[in-house]
Amino acid sequence: MQPTDKLNRPLRDLRISVTDRCNFRCVYCMPKEIFGSDFAFLPHDKLLSFEEITRLTKLFVANGVEKIRITGGEPLLRKGVEMLIKQLSEINGIKDLAMTTNASLLRPRAERLKQAGLHRVSVSLDSLDDNVFMTMNDVRFPVSKVLDGIKAAEDVGLTPIKINAVIKRGMNDDSILKMAEHFRNTGHILRFIEFMDVGNSNGWRLEDTVTTEEIFKTIHSEWPLLPIDQNYEGEVANRFRYKDKAGEIGIIASISQPFCHGCTRSRLSAEGKLYTCLFSGLGHDFRDKLRRRQSDHEIDMFIKHIWGNRKDRYSELRTEETNFQTKVEMSHIGG
Ligand code: GTP
Ligand code: 5AD
Ligand code: SF4
Ligand code: SF4
Repeated sequence: MQPTDKLNRPLRDLRISVTDRCNFRCVYCMPKEIFGSDFAFLPHDKLLSFEEITRLTKLFVANGVEKIRITGGEPLLRKGVEMLIKQLSEINGIKDLAMTTNASLLRPRAERLKQAGLHRVSVSLDSLDDNVFMTMNDVRFPVSKVLDGIKAAEDVGLTPIKINAVIKRGMNDDSILKMAEHFRNTGHILRFIEFMDVGNSNGWRLEDTVTTEEIFKTIHSEWPLLPIDQNYEGEVANRFRYKDKAGEIGIIASISQPFCHGCTRSRLSAEGKLYTCLFSGLGHDFRDKLRRRQSDHEIDMFIKHIWGNRKDRYSELRTEETNFQTKVEMSHIGG
């Protein structure tokens, strides 16, 4: 029996973080002041091994999961992640195997990732203006190298490619139109994400979130848009297509129009903790169970128990105060 949670939502997606490290220091995710040179990242022996992840994934698939997304930090920093992709791609029942990456290391890896069985990538890119992008990634990484990574992914067929841009007021809101223009007619799906109160490190303030309505109006006034239906139940992005047939965009309205009612996502951190919400403070420890040699049946019961008791709907309950609850950091569970 596959579990549903207390709000009758099935378990469909598993987002697997393979490392908590990243070579970027995006101001809205891993601000330098907190994630500095003395920050204690997880040591290697605390990370789940590829075999442990694969074993868990099979048990999650038996409980209804059909979409897998590999995340980080930056997932390509995990040595040999292609091996993991290969193992996961051999599991029956997975319909979608994707990765979210900053694309900085994608060019030399794209071919091997495709061969290992990865279906597609989503790439984070917040501006096409070098000054703005370098300020946002805070390691002076240039736009051109990200675009080159996207090109490499396109060439080997890691498609459809989604481009994720987090919009922070006063920082990159004036990049919206240029990004839209650049990705029109490319076949890539540009998605704008409302800046969110994930974790406790990014100094989030409601005033800094540029709403879906604002983003929509900015683009619609230049290139008229039409809404389109969701691809699947519980999809996070509101989808629109250009009237002039130049392609599709998405806007992720986690702050202004929460979508918890259809949320079927679970998140496994690199050290093996399961979070049933992006804004959870508490993760359920699977590493301990794996390393104490619990049986598949025992782990399966643990999954059913956790999901069966889930009632998360943080974004729908968000207030000024909830921002101060203890929440897991974005870099720990990869968004
Ligand atoms: P698709 O499978 O292509 O639809 O991708 P996705 O939207 O599930 O994954 P992706 O990592 O590209 O998500 C983009 C961003 O949407 C994330 O990084 C988050 O910022 C946001 N997001 C994704 N899932 C959730 C969620 O469950 N809750 C909230 N509040 N935001 C989410
Ligand atoms: N708000 C919205 N999106 C965020 N991301 C990281 N931190 C935040 C935040 N505070 C995005 C990244 C990436 C995805 C995994 O999550 O840009 O595209
Ligand atoms: Fe790294 Fe992605 Fe976080 Fe930026 S948003 S610091 S690229 S994990
Ligand atoms: Fe799902 Fe939590 Fe995001 Fe709501 S806030 S959509 S429950 S992850």
